[in-house]
Amino acid sequence: MGKILVSGGAGYIGAQTVLELERAGYHTLVMDDFSNSSPLVLQRLADLLGYQVEFVESQIQDLAKLEGVFSHNQIDAVIHFAGFKAVGESVAEPLKYYDNNLISAISLLKMMKKYDCKNFIFSSSATVYGASEKMPLTEDMPLGPCTNPYGWTKLMIEQILRDVAFAHPQLSVCLLRYFNPIGADASGMIGEDPNGIPNNLMPYISQVAVGKLAELSVYGNDYPTVDGTGVRDYIHVVDLALGHIKALEYATKHTGVAAFNLGTGKGTSVLELLHTFEKVNNLHVKYKIVGRRPGDPATVYADASKAEKILHWKAERNIEDMCRDTWNWQSKNPNGYQA
Ligand code: WQD
Repeated sequence: MGKILVSGGAGYIGAQTVLELERAGYHTLVMDDFSNSSPLVLQRLADLLGYQVEFVESQIQDLAKLEGVFSHNQIDAVIHFAGFKAVGESVAEPLKYYDNNLISAISLLKMMKKYDCKNFIFSSSATVYGASEKMPLTEDMPLGPCTNPYGWTKLMIEQILRDVAFAHPQLSVCLLRYFNPIGADASGMIGEDPNGIPNNLMPYISQVAVGKLAELSVYGNDYPTVDGTGVRDYIHVVDLALGHIKALEYATKHTGVAAFNLGTGKGTSVLELLHTFEKVNNLHVKYKIVGRRPGDPATVYADASKAEKILHWKAERNIEDMCRDTWNWQSKNPNGYQA
């Protein structure tokens, strides 16, 4: 098999996926502009693998560099992670999100067509289901409307992929709809390192635990849930990465578009996650209850049975593993990849 182009392969999920792909014997080529990642990630991957992965520093939209990758390598598949993903920032700067996220996907698809690359694995999100109240979410449920430009970019790219696959029947596309990725590689050498103050729950918890932040604000405890706090489907980043390998194997044997929920099928509340983190790691995380965050649904979790049936993939790691691996990463890297 030729190379797997991994766009955004120096990012949190991208780097774990590169690691698992290489461990499984695939040959990856990473493209990343380090807008939301660090060059140190590539060094950590080299330390873990015993060799440097192939890398091109570039924005995906840099067509000269992108053409260079496709013309000098046999690219058999693309796994597309590169994209901006901060929900709040997307509301404040919609054009930044539409330009970057849509143009990078379109640039890749045009280059794939030119060089006859037929397999595209897309990093999508449960956010494409919009404000559905019916749980668990299944892939055949109606999509949208989204509550923010970030979510719209994911839904628009899914639509672009459906239209391009319809026009080019030999194209094979997997839409992987992530739920809430958390955790880290068991080595503790790579993990989540958000820019600035974390928007998401787990990195905020781990930064309070390591002393970088003072106290977690729990956004509301008046939801109709087990303890009043928000319930989500947290999935270990290693399970998520392994799901991409199963999707790649599926894509190379099929054509057309297939969507898959990558979740565990289980919901966990904010306080359940926080107390599990404390118990597993034998520490205390200071928190206070504050008002709801606008736009947050009470409960979101996946029906992950389609991925199990079709991809022969199922999340194996539990909430305790996610909490243990997150702390192993954060405690070894209190400042993430910053010195
Ligand atoms: C989880 C729960 C919050 C922070 C987001 C994106 C989604 C996807 C995953 C990319 C909720 C609560 C959070 C905090 C809190 N990203 N919370 N205090 O909102 O489910 O999903 O990340 O695809 O698109 O929307 O994840 O981690 O932000 O929140 O109480 O400081 O934790 O209210 O119940 P979310 P999250």
